[in-house]
Amino acid sequence: LDMTLLNIGQEIGLPDSTYIPSDLRELNTQSSIYKGICLRKGAREAFELMTAESKIAGYGIKASSGFRSYGAQKSILDTRKKEGKDTSKSVAKAGYSEHQLGVTIDLTGSSISYASVTTKFENSIESKWLEENAYKYGFIMSYPKDKEDITGYIYEPWHYRYVGIDMAQKIKDSGLTITEYLALPKTE
Ligand code: DAL
Ligand code: ZN
Repeated sequence: LDMTLLNIGQEIGLPDSTYIPSDLRELNTQSSIYKGICLRKGAREAFELMTAESKIAGYGIKASSGFRSYGAQKSILDTRKKEGKDTSKSVAKAGYSEHQLGVTIDLTGSSISYASVTTKFENSIESKWLEENAYKYGFIMSYPKDKEDITGYIYEPWHYRYVGIDMAQKIKDSGLTITEYLALPKTE
């Protein structure tokens, strides 16, 4: 069963919480901030193309997170909770994260010294480039600004999900979030 287009969210988790995609591939070291960040094959290819072309255009974009297993998500959540953070709208429960699908990345840019998961990314030149161009490679920002009530998560300008070029174009044209788009009745 292909989980790529599961409308995962606060209330929808993976049917098998231990799910691990079978086609995970490690990202190039030049396009990630540390070794071992993985995405599914198709998402990885699209991501490497996007970072290569953005580099030619003068932008340094790297991944700070990709696939996260159930255990990895749980340990992030446990750490944040120990720090006393309210995680309910910023960190998915284990088994409920888009990162576990293997098609979702957190991004950062050279203009903010590749700092990860920070609101500083919002006004960076790399973020602006992504907002205008990521869909052309099949990536859509999952949790846009002012859509917290719809997505269930606070604005995450760094978090992009690969949905394929055709669907990314449709989502872009619709003005909807991924959450709303995947909930639409299927027409074909
Ligand atoms: N930060 C997003 C919501 C996640 O944990 O998957
Ligand atoms: Zn993320």
